[in-house]
Amino acid sequence: MKARGHAAPLSSNEHLLRWVEKMRTLCDPAAVHWVDGSAAERRELIAGMVTRGTLTRLDQKTWPGCYLARSDPADVARVEDRTFICALSRDAAGPTNNWSDPFEMRRKLRGLFAGCMRGRTLYVIAYRMGPAGSPMSRIGVQLTDSPYVVVNMGIMARTGRAIFGEIDRAQTRVVPGLHSVGAPLKRGQKDVSWPCNPDKYIVHFPESREIWSFGSGYGGNALLGKKCFALRIASNLARDEGWMAEHMLILGLEDPKGEKTYVAAAFPSACGKTNFAMLVPPETFRRKGWKVWTVGDDIAWLRPDAAGRLHAINPEAGFFGVAPGTSVKTNPNAMAALARNTIFTNTALTPDGGVWWEGMTPEPPERCLDWQGREWTPEIGRATGATAAHPNARFTAPASQCPTMDPDWERPEGVPISAIIFGGRRATTMPLIYQSFNWTAGVYLGATMGSETTAAAGGATGKVRRDPMAMRPFCGYHMGDYFRHWISMQKRLSETPRIFHVNWFRKDAAGKFLWPGFGENMRVLKWMVDRARGRALGKETPIGWVPRYEDIDWTGLDFTRERFDELQAFDKTAWRAEVINHEELFLDLHDRLPKELIYERELLICRM
Ligand code: GTP
Ligand code: SPV
Ligand code: MN
Repeated sequence: MKARGHAAPLSSNEHLLRWVEKMRTLCDPAAVHWVDGSAAERRELIAGMVTRGTLTRLDQKTWPGCYLARSDPADVARVEDRTFICALSRDAAGPTNNWSDPFEMRRKLRGLFAGCMRGRTLYVIAYRMGPAGSPMSRIGVQLTDSPYVVVNMGIMARTGRAIFGEIDRAQTRVVPGLHSVGAPLKRGQKDVSWPCNPDKYIVHFPESREIWSFGSGYGGNALLGKKCFALRIASNLARDEGWMAEHMLILGLEDPKGEKTYVAAAFPSACGKTNFAMLVPPETFRRKGWKVWTVGDDIAWLRPDAAGRLHAINPEAGFFGVAPGTSVKTNPNAMAALARNTIFTNTALTPDGGVWWEGMTPEPPERCLDWQGREWTPEIGRATGATAAHPNARFTAPASQCPTMDPDWERPEGVPISAIIFGGRRATTMPLIYQSFNWTAGVYLGATMGSETTAAAGGATGKVRRDPMAMRPFCGYHMGDYFRHWISMQKRLSETPRIFHVNWFRKDAAGKFLWPGFGENMRVLKWMVDRARGRALGKETPIGWVPRYEDIDWTGLDFTRERFDELQAFDKTAWRAEVINHEELFLDLHDRLPKELIYERELLICRM
C-alpha cells in the first residue's frame, strides 16, 4: 500500500507527467517514488539508508536527528573538468566553461542514462528555490536515484507536496533536472554504501534550461537546485530577465540605533562566506548593540525593485557548509545550526557516536574513525599526514536552525542591498580592505578577482587563479557577456551598491595569517557599512579608497598601526604582476570584453 502511495503522481501537470514517464522509460528504474516531503517519508528513507550502510546514525542524545554519510573516496567534491555548458554555440559558453555540442552531448547522455537506474528507485522531487510567495522564486523538478540526494534536497530547498501543488496551480514552466549516480544494479547484486560512477558528467543546456547530472552523488554535482540551477541556469535566466544570480552570502548589520544595512559578498568556494554570514561581533561591539543577521550563506538572487533599489533573496533553505575549521569559537551559529537534523558527509566519527573534524576542538579526539571509516589517531595523523575529516567534509543543516537568521530572511520582496563585497584567498598582494571608486571600477575589481583554489573542487589546491565574481565555476554563459550584464545593471538601479574588496587571508613573511579573521572581520564590515551610509572617511590610493588606521574601531583588539600598515601595504611589484595577470584573463575573453573594463585597466595602470 505504501509503495503505491509513493508511486502515484503528486502532480497533474501533463508536461511534467510526460517528462517523468519519458525519463523512466530511459533510465528503467525498479520503482518510481514521488517525494511528498513528509516527516514519515524522511524517516523511511533514512531508515533504508542506515540499513544499507549509506548513513550511520549518530548518538541521538547528543546529535538528535543527525547522520553521517561516507562518500566514495573518488566522489568528494565538485568536478569542474566534468562540468559542461552545452549552449548551441561554443562562443555562447565562452572560454571559462567546458563546452560540448548539445546534439552530440544529448546522444552521449542518452547512452549513459539508458538503463542507469536498474534495480533502483527513481525519486521525483519538486523544489522551490526562494521563499513562498516571492516573485523572485523559481521551481525545479529533480529526478534522482539517490535517496541521500532526496534527504539533502529536503534540507537545502523547499520540497514536497506543496510544491507540486504550486506547479499545478500556476502551470509554471519548471527547470527539469535528471540525476543518476550511474550505478545500475543487476538482479540480486548487493549495493555499495555510496554508489557512483568514475565517468562523471554535470551538464547544462542553457537555452532549454535543462540539467543532466551523471555519476556523482556529492554536493553541487548532485543537489541540482544549488549550483546547477540557482547559479548556472539562473545566471542565464537573470541575464535575459534583467536580474543577477550570484555566488554570494547575504547579511544584515544592525547598528546600535537598530538600523539595519544589508550587504552581499562574493567569495570563492571555501573562502569564508558561511563564516562571514554568521559573524559574531567582538564583545565590545556586542555591548554597544551591534548585531549581524544572516539571510544566506552561498547564493543570492538580486533584482531591482520598482524604485530601482537592488533587493536580494536567498534561494536556498539550508546550508551545505564546510565542516573543517568550524567551531564554537570561529562560528558558534553554524555549530548551533548543525546540532540537530543535520547530515554530515565525510567527517570523522568519534567512539561515542559523534562527529569530529579538524579545527572543531583545539585537541583532536584520542581515537576516531576517519572519513573513510578507518582507524585514526593523532599519531597516525602526524605520521601519515592524513586528516580525520576530508578537507571538503560538509554539513547539510536547515537554515531555520541558525540562531542569527534574519527575521526577514524569507521576505518575498527580499532585502535591500547597500554594498557588494568581493573577496579572495590571497597570501600576498591584496590588502585587507579597499573600496572601488565607483560601480564600473567595482565591476573591474570583481571581474579580475583572484583566489587560491580550495578542496571544494577536484584538482590542485592553493594555486591562485582568476575567479571573476567567485563565479568562474558557476557562470552559465560567456564571462565577457556576464561582465557586460554587470555593467548594464547600473542603468537599472536608482542607487548602486558600493563595491569593496576584502582579503582575510594575507600572510606575513613567516607564512602566518596577518589578520585574526572571523568575528574580528566585524571591524572591516563596520567601516564598509559606514562608507555605504556616508559616515566614514577613507584615503584615496591607486586601487581605491582605504581606511586609515584611525578609521577602524579597534576597541577590544590589540592591533598595532605597523601591523595594519603591513596588512594594507600596496606593493608595486606585486601589483604589476597582478595587472599582467588581469590581462591574461582579458585576452581569453577579448572578443566579448566590455570596453569599460579595458578603460578601467588603463586608468588603474595610470594611477599606479
Ligand atoms: P562554499 O560553501 O564552498 O561556497 O564556501 P564558503 O565561502 O561558505 O566558505 P566557509 O565560510 O565555509 O569557509 C571555508 C574555510 O575558510 C573554513 O575552513 C573556515 O574556517 C575558513 N575561514 C572562514 N573565514 C575565515 C577568516 O576570516 N579567516 C581565516 N583565516 N579563515 C577563515
Ligand atoms: C561550493 O563549492 O562553492 C559549494 C559546495 O558551496 S557545492 O555545493 O558542492 O558546490
Ligand atoms: Mn559555494
